[in-house]
Amino acid sequence: MARGRFHLGWFTNFALDAWNEPLASGGGDPWAGDIYVDLAKALERACFDYMILEDTLMVSNIHGGSMDRYLRAAIAVPKHDPAPLAAVIGAQTRHLGVVATLSTLGYPPFLLARLCATLDHICRGRFGWNIVTSGEDAAAQNFGMDAITEHDLRYEMADEYVDLVNRLFASWDPDAVVLDPERGVYADPEKVRAIDFSGRFFKSRGPLNTAPLPHGRPVYVQAGGSPRGRDFAARHADSVIATAKGPEAMKAFRDDIRARAARAGRDPDAVKVLFLLAPVLGETETEALDKNARGLASPAFQERTLAFQSALCGIDLSQFDLDQPLPPLETNGSKAVLATFAQWGSGKPLRRLIQDSGKGGVIDAVGTPDQVAETMIAAMARVGGDGFLIQQPYGLISRRAVLEVTEGLVPALQRRGAVRTAYATTTLGETLREF
Ligand SMILES: Cc1cc2nc3c(=O)[nH]c(=O)nc-3n(C[C@H](O)[C@H](O)[C@H](O)COP(=O)(O)O)c2cc1C
Repeated sequence: MARGRFHLGWFTNFALDAWNEPLASGGGDPWAGDIYVDLAKALERACFDYMILEDTLMVSNIHGGSMDRYLRAAIAVPKHDPAPLAAVIGAQTRHLGVVATLSTLGYPPFLLARLCATLDHICRGRFGWNIVTSGEDAAAQNFGMDAITEHDLRYEMADEYVDLVNRLFASWDPDAVVLDPERGVYADPEKVRAIDFSGRFFKSRGPLNTAPLPHGRPVYVQAGGSPRGRDFAARHADSVIATAKGPEAMKAFRDDIRARAARAGRDPDAVKVLFLLAPVLGETETEALDKNARGLASPAFQERTLAFQSALCGIDLSQFDLDQPLPPLETNGSKAVLATFAQWGSGKPLRRLIQDSGKGGVIDAVGTPDQVAETMIAAMARVGGDGFLIQQPYGLISRRAVLEVTEGLVPALQRRGAVRTAYATTTLGETLREF
């Protein structure tokens, strides 16, 4: 990272969690993607690196032991497929990266490579794949399995999966398309090869049947937090989604990812670690603090947080006493997500853990744009880089919250020279490597 500058991404999904919020749900047809296109245009004006659309492949039945609470309150359901939305956003923007979550559980590698190549062409080199394996039994059961594969084995399978996908991307040389009308040659057959991949888990003949990407492959994003997950991210990811509490833990996480990347033979600067942050902004500090207190006190926020965390970890957290700390728990879902939420050893009761999880993400970020900008800059100075992945406070999408960031916080960061004021390159890979 060049001294002083860091990257910005935006974390959201193709869902309607804010359907009944008073200032969140108006304007356009959400399922046609209208609000997301507006969001992308605002992020592009603010020179964000990318917008990422998370995804899951199930209606959860963990919280309260059934689907009822998820359906009644629209918690992570309905949730639409991010891939077509990425194409719509890509067609409506020119510089912003668009990252869609696609699960190795759901796609055969060939189909995934083909989809990513197609999307990267439509997005003119600005598409990214958020690599997930899915961690829920309910998702596995939608694909003919009885239960989700064991945690570390999922990562082993994903390593092989990405290896295969990389070979498919490399099955056409970047200059394989000759396009010579005089000789009547479209592609040079010498520059396109079968891959004949035969691994422990996957098999594919290749080559890919899409036009090659000039830059080889789309950007890869990943959110591994466990030791095995960090190795996976360090090996493959161009950008890592990170959760950690406070600058010291953030620094330790980033240093660890960079060390693992170096051990895997990669340049650590090629892996941009972006930390989740949900700023709560006001025109005055009092207004921001008041807004935050109201947000955290809302029963809907408590219910939503418990339901989300339960779904991610596969553990029904509604069974635990709100006034006691969580007991030791094991998950086959996301280990880092559970550990960050539970704060074991802190002695904090569940009620407080819920509040903490809503309190801005990796650092407390409640205040005026200038105050939050200073806090972010101070944290980055301590951590060393590489930036933040901004999320709406309390997990709710609204045009208003987006504009508070793009028209308030980002200009405050720009005035301090902390983030870019113009795009310098065209593809997402180049944008991430700019500093
Ligand atoms: C902020 C964040 C976002 C995530 N988004 C998704 C997602 O969209 N879909 C999904 O299946 N898993 C998602 N995951 C799970 C990760 O991809 C990964 O499987 C999980 O965190 C396991 O990590 P672990 O190595 O900490 O166990 C997310 C995790 C985090 C921390």
